[in-house]
Amino acid sequence: MTLYNANKLLPIVVRVRTPLQSEAGCISRIHEENLHEGWGEFEIQSFLNKKCNISFVAVMRKKIIGFLIAQYLIFEGEVISLAVDHRFRRLGIATRLVVELHNKLLHRGGHSIFLEVDETNRSAINLYNRLGFQQISLRKSYYKKPDGRSTDALVLRKSLCSHKL
Ligand SMILES: CC(C)(COP(=O)(O)OP(=O)(O)OC[C@H]1O[C@@H](n2cnc3c(N)ncnc32)[C@H](O)[C@@H]1OP(=O)(O)O)[C@@H](O)C(=O)NCCC(=O)NCCS
Repeated sequence: MTLYNANKLLPIVVRVRTPLQSEAGCISRIHEENLHEGWGEFEIQSFLNKKCNISFVAVMRKKIIGFLIAQYLIFEGEVISLAVDHRFRRLGIATRLVVELHNKLLHRGGHSIFLEVDETNRSAINLYNRLGFQQISLRKSYYKKPDGRSTDALVLRKSLCSHKL
């Protein structure tokens, strides 16, 4: 995947691949910086270790700038966590990570992907809608905020296409 900087002069190559165990610390850092609840290095490591989990990282000049962690349960994939470093957003990186997951699930005989997203997370909802996810249910007061408030989770689902994206 080749991106361009703001003045379109410098091509920036971003690779998407499976993370190494040794990269759990970098993923944990991105998680902490971009999501409300942080996941420590060991927590990430245990996700990377599980056979039923599928993970991808987006790498630019040897630096991890985004990740996706999902699990695969009987024909269905669930996105557990996804984040892109704020300096590299709106460049299609999250889209590419979800597309990689789609293609991997398709290869494993999966039928669909689902996930939960905070009803107030407009950027993520737009991302998933753009990729063809649709709301199938609502989990009331699912996310608890530090100030004591809570927000609902939208449960979104997408059937896999019959071909690679
Ligand atoms: C949500 C997130 C992963 C999107 O990453 P990204 O790499 O910027 O996403 P993409 O560039 O692939 O965006 C694809 C589409 O999503 C939508 N989108 C992404 N960011 C958006 C924003 N800030 N505002 C509105 N729509 C947005 C747009 O429709 C965008 O297409 P466009 O740029 O052509 O308009 C990123 O904002 C992030 O890491 N947020 C914090 C963590 C998080 O909320 N994770 C999701 C948990 S479910």
